[in-house]
Amino acid sequence: MVRSTGFKKVKTTIFISGNGSNMKNLIKFSKIKNSPIEINLVLSSNKKANALNYLKKKKINFKIFDFKKKNKDEKKILDILKKKDTQLICLAGFMKILSRNFIKRFKGKILNIHPSLLPKYKGLNTHKRAIINKEKFSGCTVHIVNSKLDSGKIIMQKKVRINKNDDPESLSKKILKQEHLLYPKALIKLISRN
Ligand code: GRF
Repeated sequence: MVRSTGFKKVKTTIFISGNGSNMKNLIKFSKIKNSPIEINLVLSSNKKANALNYLKKKKINFKIFDFKKKNKDEKKILDILKKKDTQLICLAGFMKILSRNFIKRFKGKILNIHPSLLPKYKGLNTHKRAIINKEKFSGCTVHIVNSKLDSGKIIMQKKVRINKNDDPESLSKKILKQEHLLYPKALIKLISRN
């Protein structure tokens, strides 16, 4: 359970690797008056991530770790998160797999957003696979991260209809829009106030 103490916002670190539309959305959400979170740091596994330009412009604190030496990087990250007093981690298009040990240290406190209706279509290329299988619906899921890929407890899901003329790109756009609505809702649901 993630609890905010009194009216204090939950200190949240976002992990990204690329585009960062969910990241931007969470940053905007954190600035809303009654938002339950504040963003204390963004961590990118990719020094060329598009999202970094936005962070520079907005003067938001970020760090880059390429995870080539995963153990070492994770140790350094854990130290930073401790110093920053991070209470919650939101993965948002983060393309690295965190170690079992790392996940243990933040048990129940790492969230991910995945572009399918889990448990269907874990892993990559979700839209393409859903279309090939002639699914009528796909969607997105916010879930807790555990040591099995895309398999932790589901917090919230949103269904999206797949039309006959949808291709992976059009479906991805439709689902991404819903992701931006779902992640904040799931955070509100997860964070119980005392
Ligand atoms: C999203 O579809 C998310 O569900 C998946 O990766 C994509 C990231 O998009 N995990 P963005 O970087 O947030 O724009």
